[in-house]
Amino acid sequence: MGCLDDQVALIVGAAGGIGRAVVRRYLADGATVLAVDRSEERLAELQAESGGHPRLATMAADASTWAGCKAMVARAVTEFGGLDVLVSCVGVYDHGVRLVDIPGERLTDAFDECFRANVGSLLLCIRAAIEPLAARGGRIVVTGSFAGHRPSGGGVLYTSAKHAVVGLVSQLAYELAPKIRVNGVAPGVAKTVMSGLRSLDQEPRDALQPGTEDALPLQTLPHTDDYGAVYALLGSAESAVITGTVVVADSGLLVRGLAGPNLGGDL
Ligand SMILES: NC(=O)c1ccc[n+]([C@@H]2O[C@H](COP(=O)([O-])OP(=O)(O)OC[C@H]3O[C@@H](n4cnc5c(N)ncnc54)[C@H](O)[C@@H]3O)[C@@H](O)[C@H]2O)c1
Repeated sequence: MGCLDDQVALIVGAAGGIGRAVVRRYLADGATVLAVDRSEERLAELQAESGGHPRLATMAADASTWAGCKAMVARAVTEFGGLDVLVSCVGVYDHGVRLVDIPGERLTDAFDECFRANVGSLLLCIRAAIEPLAARGGRIVVTGSFAGHRPSGGGVLYTSAKHAVVGLVSQLAYELAPKIRVNGVAPGVAKTVMSGLRSLDQEPRDALQPGTEDALPLQTLPHTDDYGAVYALLGSAESAVITGTVVVADSGLLVRGLAGPNLGGDL
């Protein structure tokens, strides 16, 4: 028995680091999962890792296009009879690039790419899924970031896009109530390899900066699996009174102060 028994979940960005952890958790908690990603290679790895789990199907699609989002929702509904939960773990990073280091003539393209991936893809997936989700009292869980609340989790493009995710959650929770609940998770750090902005010729790179562990008040680098429980809670009936919330899961980054943690000595 799990908190997602008999639930159909569409998980987008499912083959990335955090996405895979969410897929693992949703399967463990009883959900049937359609895992979507734009990377066929990563999806094949996910399938192999799951050992051909009977409640997992995968699909390659681009969540930053209307056609891609319509197709993934249609597949979930056709194959599994409806949709209870939409999760998005889609994201691209800007690798912390400063505004002053972006050539002015490339800024519009970089802005479009960053916002289209981090914000536009959420709007498209949610728009495509409204009808089936509303029919089953559905839940939406999107992925923000610590960078959606404070500076220094990325550059200005990523940081402002992730701030927009907070507004998106708030507004859509209001627009889609009472039939659909909308929440988000804002991870702090995770040891993953994130895509950069192609418009700025950025290659995929480790998301983690050197020295990160020491900057975390909780002083432990989280495993991607550590994020799974929050996604499961927000996607399940257990969170029936929560909508419009972005749960910050940042190992204490938002409460970081000037002095080191454990200021008062051993507790
Ligand atoms: N890794 C971190 O430290 C960290 C910290 C805070 C927030 N986040 C956020 O967590 C989420 C997951 O990040 P991650 O670290 O697992 O990165 P990741 O790159 O491993 O995962 C992102 C996945 O999204 C997929 N994707 C990107 N654009 C897509 C599109 N248009 N259509 C379909 N799939 C698409 C990628 O192929 C990839 O598999 C992102 O929203 C990221 O911004 C990550």
